[in-house]
Amino acid sequence: MPKNFIIAIDGYSSCGKSTIAKALAKRLNFIYVDSGAMYRAATLYFLRNNIDCNNRDAIIEALENIHVELHLEDDYTQVLLNNEDVSEEIRLMPVSQNVSKVSAIKEVRQAMVKLQQKMGKTKNIVMDGRDIGTTVFPDAQLKVFMTAEPLIRAERRYKELKAKGDEVTVREVLDNLKERDLLDTTRQESPLRKADDAVILDNSHMNPEQQLEFVVNLYKNKIS
Ligand code: DC
Repeated sequence: MPKNFIIAIDGYSSCGKSTIAKALAKRLNFIYVDSGAMYRAATLYFLRNNIDCNNRDAIIEALENIHVELHLEDDYTQVLLNNEDVSEEIRLMPVSQNVSKVSAIKEVRQAMVKLQQKMGKTKNIVMDGRDIGTTVFPDAQLKVFMTAEPLIRAERRYKELKAKGDEVTVREVLDNLKERDLLDTTRQESPLRKADDAVILDNSHMNPEQQLEFVVNLYKNKIS
């Protein structure tokens, strides 16, 4: 196996990036890094401390009080915000509704990208996010760009949230993911876009096993 192989998985909100990235990391014995969880943890900090997510100056000032760590367990990433486990809370709607504003701020991105690059320095990793193949690891050996039809994505995320007891409607989830897609693709700092050398994976009509095989084959082709 090549040394320090990096697989970048980028794409739209709620299209199953983390499911595939996790399964792929397990199959290849790579480390999985969920970069979105880091932006979510920072957003949770601002919400809890009544810092307006539109107030750029206040956010930049508070940044130094935020310490985010990812602890990689077997099947699961534990997200610590200032040593508190916030793995569940960062997935709920209040965070989803504010995270794109926070992640559009240059100084927030600089801090997170630095941490992400450190994680990928020596280890084989699969990292998912929005700018992994374009900004964080522009030299990643394999880049995948995931997408799926918005309504299919919303229905999948709705089921997940419902199962966790979050009282939402499909409409709310759909509106939120469309809004995040818009903000993520139009922001000035590292907007979401497909890297020129990324392979598109539209999983609207694929199950997780089919997606995993698709990406494993891309990996095998790269190393053969
Ligand atoms: O992947 P996710 O939905 O958990 O990501 C949450 C938000 O974080 C998403 O709306 C955009 C932002 N994000 C980003 O800007 N860059 C990344 N590398 C990962 C996530």
